[in-house]
Amino acid sequence: MRLRTIREANVENKRVFLRVDFNVSIKDGYIEDDFRIKAVLETIDHLLEKKAKIIIAAHLGRPKGKDEKLSLKMIAKRLEGLAGVEVGFVSDCIGEKVKDAVSKLEPGEILMLENLRFYNGEEDDSDDFASELASLADIYVNDAFAVAHRAHASVSAIAKFLPAYAGFLMEKEYNTLNSVYHNPKKPLVIAMGGAKVMTKVKLIKRFLDKADHILVGGVIANVILDAKGVAIGKSKLDKDVAGDLASLDLTSPKLHLPIDLVVAKEISEDAETKVVATGAVLPDDIILDIGPSSVDLFYSIVRDANMVIWNGPLGYSEITRFAKGTDDFADAVCKSAAYRIVGGGESITSLDKIGDLEKIDFVSTGGGSMLEFLAGDPMPGINPLLTS
Ligand code: 3PG
Repeated sequence: MRLRTIREANVENKRVFLRVDFNVSIKDGYIEDDFRIKAVLETIDHLLEKKAKIIIAAHLGRPKGKDEKLSLKMIAKRLEGLAGVEVGFVSDCIGEKVKDAVSKLEPGEILMLENLRFYNGEEDDSDDFASELASLADIYVNDAFAVAHRAHASVSAIAKFLPAYAGFLMEKEYNTLNSVYHNPKKPLVIAMGGAKVMTKVKLIKRFLDKADHILVGGVIANVILDAKGVAIGKSKLDKDVAGDLASLDLTSPKLHLPIDLVVAKEISEDAETKVVATGAVLPDDIILDIGPSSVDLFYSIVRDANMVIWNGPLGYSEITRFAKGTDDFADAVCKSAAYRIVGGGESITSLDKIGDLEKIDFVSTGGGSMLEFLAGDPMPGINPLLTS
């Protein structure tokens, strides 16, 4: 199977609905990392050159209804700067106002829609919502690899209503990760952190068969330590994963948890921190990073690997004070001679910060989607694009 790509589509003068993933991290109203925006420029350039009328749709965060803080207006501005062409913006993604703006689009112009997740229909994979989106366009192009693991209307259901093609980013992600999936190099090490616990716990289970070692940090590590009866004080947890955890072999020798931790009494840039052995966390401590011995342990495993796949920060890395474990691990990944694949916002930010992103063999825009793809899970955003 291969992807049907925009090279095969006649887009001239056509209205193209381009789904992208611009789910970037925003701190104090500022876009921290525009890697995901830059990654779709090749597709946008192609569509501009072919004189398509480009309608860009994306999500940001996990809003509950309309939420001005999660508007895509600021991202449209950043795209305008990066693409070097005007990017129109309409403050909705369906309805008369949007239809009117689309009807005024000339070939070679771009219009960006408001956050798709302001409507429940998006995450519900609603056919009604998808057909409203589809009615805006003649052709659907999916370049949103990072959300291709979600069965959402603009990713999945919309392909029932329009001819569907992959953009160049989707093609690159698919081709590279597909070849990794079929030919993993052993020993294979998977490192995962971050806060999206539900997605990751399921993945640990899947990778216990495929990988030789799984290194865990961040909130997922808290959840596993807690399930093993190890004290985690007031650290962040996710109780919803109890069922999934019950079916996970927490005693597997492949599963490596931090052996020491950085704790503080509060989450702030000037918090007083302390390194404690795992198991010695006090009731009012909050775990915010992995400690130096854990970095050494993880490094010794990564050093002997032939393939390393990493997604997600190992601590609360948005705050510099708690980013050292993640940054030191990024450094360890760079020093390893293994084939290295890194995906997801914060891991990329960390590598960028230490100036070593170019040492990584493949940088994926996907976090959860990259891991789910490599675990062999169904990809609702990719299946409609496949052809024999
Ligand atoms: C991501 O950032 O991993 C994707 O945009 C998916 O986001 P989600 O986990 O909120 O669905």
